[in-house]
Amino acid sequence: MASERMDYYRAKYKTLEDLPGVGPATASKLRQIGFKTVESLATAAVQEVTAAGIGEATAAKIIEAARKSMAITFVRGDELIKLRSNVRRLTTGCGALDKLLAGGIETQSITEFYGEFGTGKSQICQQLCLTVQLPPEKGGLDGGALYIDTENTFRTDRIMQIAPRFGLDPKEALKRIIYAEAYTSSHQMILLENADEVIKENNIRLIIIDSLTSHFRSEYLGREMLAARQQMLNKHLHKLIRLARAFNACAVVTNQVMAQPDVFFAKMVAPVGGHILGHMSHTRIFLRKGRGETRIARLTVSPFLPEGEVPIRITERGVESDEDVM
Ligand code: GTP
Ligand code: MG
Repeated sequence: MASERMDYYRAKYKTLEDLPGVGPATASKLRQIGFKTVESLATAAVQEVTAAGIGEATAAKIIEAARKSMAITFVRGDELIKLRSNVRRLTTGCGALDKLLAGGIETQSITEFYGEFGTGKSQICQQLCLTVQLPPEKGGLDGGALYIDTENTFRTDRIMQIAPRFGLDPKEALKRIIYAEAYTSSHQMILLENADEVIKENNIRLIIIDSLTSHFRSEYLGREMLAARQQMLNKHLHKLIRLARAFNACAVVTNQVMAQPDVFFAKMVAPVGGHILGHMSHTRIFLRKGRGETRIARLTVSPFLPEGEVPIRITERGVESDEDVM
């Protein structure tokens, strides 16, 4: 039985219209609200689909069909091993970071880099846009990257500068990075909600949101807006995790920390997203400045790895360490 399910991450139906009960009108409604692929429908909730003006019973049937076509329903224990074995690791290209992460960044979950300004969050993201393109034997996923940039910090010249280190042609490497700048938090959400087709067409295996929280932080001010902000952030992260699962991709977000003056230890810092982000991001890495180009990466939350920290460096070659193999 399991052997029939060759690829868990590609639905057997190619387009929405191939799903039983989905005609051109329904397909068009679904596309309008951001469900452009069978893969994204498979991880949708009924309420999201009824938002397209589709009845509840029909919505449930459509989702069911999408799920069945991907075999992400109930699985036997032995199949679970197979599913789990589909989780891949993406090398960061930085030996010490990879060691901290037991091989690299996992697909199907969210990894968050947080820290003060200039600690290397965006530098790591840009390097990952290159390593994701590497073949599996070099620790890559042989895929493209989607970069949602909220602070206009993505630099093509930096990508081109780092590419040769990984044996990649700078111009070709840029072709496999899909870039979008988000101007507001709602724009950022819409971009992600409409990303599924772009992800599929470009074989995107890495979705980056740099920074996840900056727009939310500047738009939702004060305590009275906190609940609304967290609700939106929650929705956004749900979408992200579903895309990561549907396409077996890595999801990487950055988050600038703010000083937390009301704690006892002066040097303590807290991630901006609060508890919601804490629960949703499965792996968190805290970055802080060391001497000169040195940064300290500390694994603070992981589902299975022990806490620990390693020194890394940001140089003209990208993010480096003493334990690099590339
Ligand atoms: P915010 O987005 O402001 O919160 O910071 P960040 O954590 O994203 O910082 P970022 O990744 O942008 O790191 C910026 C730092 O990287 C700079 O302060 C430089 O020290 C270093 N850096 C960036 N480009 C280069 C480069 O070409 N050569 C060298 N040697 N260092 C670089
Ligand atoms: Mg940055």
